[in-house]
Amino acid sequence: MSNVLWAKPGMDIDADIQRFLAGDDVILDREFIRYDIRASGAHAEGLERIGILAADELAAIARELAELDADVAGGRFVLDERFEDMHSAIEARLIERLGDVGKKIHTGRSRNDQVLVATRLWLKDRLAHAAGLCHAAAGVALDRAEAEAHLPLPGYTHLQRAMVSSAAMWWAGWAEAFLDDAGRLRQTWSWIDANPLGSAAGYGVNLPLDRDHTTSALGFGRMQVAATYAQLSRGKFELAALEALGSALLDLRRLAWDLSLFASAEYAFVRLPAKYTTGSSLMPNKRNPDVIELMRGVYASVAAAKIEVEQLLSLPSGYHRDLQYSKGAIVHGFGRGLAALGLLPDLLRAMEWQPERMRAATEASRYATGLAVELAAAGLPCRGAYREAANPERWADRDPDASLSARVSPGAAGALRLDGLRQRWAAGR
Ligand code: ARG
Repeated sequence: MSNVLWAKPGMDIDADIQRFLAGDDVILDREFIRYDIRASGAHAEGLERIGILAADELAAIARELAELDADVAGGRFVLDERFEDMHSAIEARLIERLGDVGKKIHTGRSRNDQVLVATRLWLKDRLAHAAGLCHAAAGVALDRAEAEAHLPLPGYTHLQRAMVSSAAMWWAGWAEAFLDDAGRLRQTWSWIDANPLGSAAGYGVNLPLDRDHTTSALGFGRMQVAATYAQLSRGKFELAALEALGSALLDLRRLAWDLSLFASAEYAFVRLPAKYTTGSSLMPNKRNPDVIELMRGVYASVAAAKIEVEQLLSLPSGYHRDLQYSKGAIVHGFGRGLAALGLLPDLLRAMEWQPERMRAATEASRYATGLAVELAAAGLPCRGAYREAANPERWADRDPDASLSARVSPGAAGALRLDGLRQRWAAGR
């Protein structure tokens, strides 16, 4: 641990204790270091604007930061145990290259606002990415809803066959769900789009830091004004981001459940292309839908991450080192969540219905509800119509297509209103 920033003569540094303090931070910080480098650049610009750095000093720092960023991106610089964390690594590199000029970078800032701004930028990128994936999934679902209007699929309640539904109704549901998820992710993006840099340790500094400049230079929509709130929002914003991600993954969990049932021999409504399945190590006959099972399982990781962050927030105001652990939670939750969502659009595009099996599962009793409503609409009191329609002889001459096109309540198979969803999709709302 040769690069402890706060080391002073006479201060005892114990290797075991340092390892405990750093924990897995140097590994986790590999996720965040490029954001920290970017924010360091904006901070240096701000320092130049208030006369702390000369123009040539700023230029030198900017050049070194760009080179470090390229080295990180190209794998030539890897954060490791030589450093306590990414903040130390960036500062050490500037000092190594620029001597006294490098020593100026930390003027008026704290690792507390550094870690806040780096994770904030990281979260914004991940939320935008997740929103894009949900939007893409909604787009595929909409395409398929439009294309597969007349394909009957049993509609289930209690896992019992209930009414005739259709592939298009199934798709429309997921299209609207993922549109909502994309919207929530975008709203959360806006909610956390506030710049904490310049709050320093949580109480400001005795310098007129140009926080307006760093806010716009880093692309934030607003400044997080109260220096104390910047600290209060650590963990709170992480939790909000995980919740937004979680709502998409809850939908993914149910969708994956549907597919794992539909792909089983008992239902056999869906065929998954071979690349989404794996073989069994023991049973030569098996193809297993492991991909959708892992998609289903991912919510557990996000739920765990939410709980971890929430538990860490049991703190009074101000910075506390406990909060360091919130980085692991978001890296784990978003890592798994984005990986699963990333495969979703193609999976949805590639899954194949088995129409004969779907039609075969559409047996006559599924028409009872339609018939009861039809009799009631013709004037029979609803309860009488219900009894009449329970008679199996009355189901005989009905066919699924007619039943589906008669389902004209808005949002049902005969009136899906896909153009409304399509407009929402096109407007990115
Ligand atoms: N690794 C630390 C974290 O994530 C960085 C901030 C350290 N600040 C401090 N005052 N010790 O919270």
